[in-house]
Amino acid sequence: MPHFKTFEILKAMKKVRKAVIPAAGLGTRFLPATKSVPKEMLTIVDAPIIFYVVEEAVKAGIEDIVLIAGRGKHAIEDFFDTSYEVEDKLSKDGKIDILNRLARIRDMANIISIRQKQALGLGHAVYSGRRIIGDEPFAVLLGDEITVNLDNQSSATEDLVRAFEQTEQSSLSVMKVAEDQVSKYGIAEVDEPNKQTLSFSSHHSVDFFRVKKLLEKPQPTETSSRWAITGRYVFDPKIFNILENQKPTKNNEIQLTDAIQELTRHNVVNSYPLQGQRYDAGDKLGYLISNIEFALRNKELTSELSAYLKALAQQIEKGSFK
Ligand code: UTP
Repeated sequence: MPHFKTFEILKAMKKVRKAVIPAAGLGTRFLPATKSVPKEMLTIVDAPIIFYVVEEAVKAGIEDIVLIAGRGKHAIEDFFDTSYEVEDKLSKDGKIDILNRLARIRDMANIISIRQKQALGLGHAVYSGRRIIGDEPFAVLLGDEITVNLDNQSSATEDLVRAFEQTEQSSLSVMKVAEDQVSKYGIAEVDEPNKQTLSFSSHHSVDFFRVKKLLEKPQPTETSSRWAITGRYVFDPKIFNILENQKPTKNNEIQLTDAIQELTRHNVVNSYPLQGQRYDAGDKLGYLISNIEFALRNKELTSELSAYLKALAQQIEKGSFK
C-alpha cells in the first residue's frame, strides 16, 4: 500500500518530538551563587528552575530533551535521575504532587545531557544539540525562563509545537515590552497589519505575525517595535546550517537572534504573542518575583505569605521599613 506509507512518513516528519534546553551560561548576574551551582538549579519555592522548564516541554509532547549544561552539569543530571532514598522520603511525607510530577517527567521524556565546553553564546549552545536533534524540527526552551499558563490555557511551547505541525514554519514566542525594556531583549519587527490566526480546536486559536527582522538588544530609537522575543522557539533544522557558520557579534557571543534573522531571509518565521505569564528567573529581580508569585499560588504558603506581604507593604508605604 504505497499511498498509506507515504502519508505516514510525511506525518512523522511534521511532529516536533525533540527539544534543546540551554543551561550552560555563566550566570554572572547571580555570582557568587552560580560559582558552583548552575543558575538553572536555583530554587523556585521547592523545585529548581529547570524542573518547571522540562515540565513545560514534556507537557507539550516532547519526548527527547537535550540539556546543554556547563559547569555543575552533574547537579542537573542528578536532579532528573532516580533517587530511591529521597523519593521514599517524599512519599512518606505525603509530598505526592512533586513526586508524581518528577515520575511523569522521567516516564515521558528521555533526557540527554551534553556539555557546552565554553559559554560561547546561546547560538553556540543550541548548535551543540545538533548531533542528537539531527534532521528533525525541534523546540528550544531557555533554561532560566519559566512560563505559567493561568486558566488552563496551553503553554507557549505547546502552541509553538502545534503551530509548527500545521504550518511547518519556524516560530518564536513574543511579548510586548515597555520602551525602557527594549534594549534588554532580542526584538522582532513583525508584520502586524497582516495578522493571521491558527485554530487548534473549536475553543483554542492563536494569532501570529510573520517576522520581518530581528535585532539583538537594540536601543529603542533603533526600532519602533516593542515585541520582545521570549525564550521559547520551534525551529526547522535548517537553522543548524546557519548556526554552523555564525560569527560572534554582540558581547562577542554567537547569538541565536542573528541566526534567526538569517533564517528569515530564506524561510518564513512566525511570531506568536505569549499567552500567560513569563518569568525571567535568570535575573535577580525576576527570580525574586517568581519565588513570591509561585509561593502565593502554593496552598501551603498562600495565607501566611499574603499576610506578611500586606504588612510589609504597609511598612514600606509608611517609610518605616529599615
Ligand atoms: P543568558 O544570557 O540569560 O545566560 O542566557 P547567562 O549568560 O548565563 O547570564 P548572565 O548574563 O551571565 O547572568 C539565556 C540562557 O541560555 C543559556 C543560559 O544558561 C540561559 O539558560 N546559555 C547562554 C548557554 O547555555 N550557553 C551560553 O553560551 C550562553
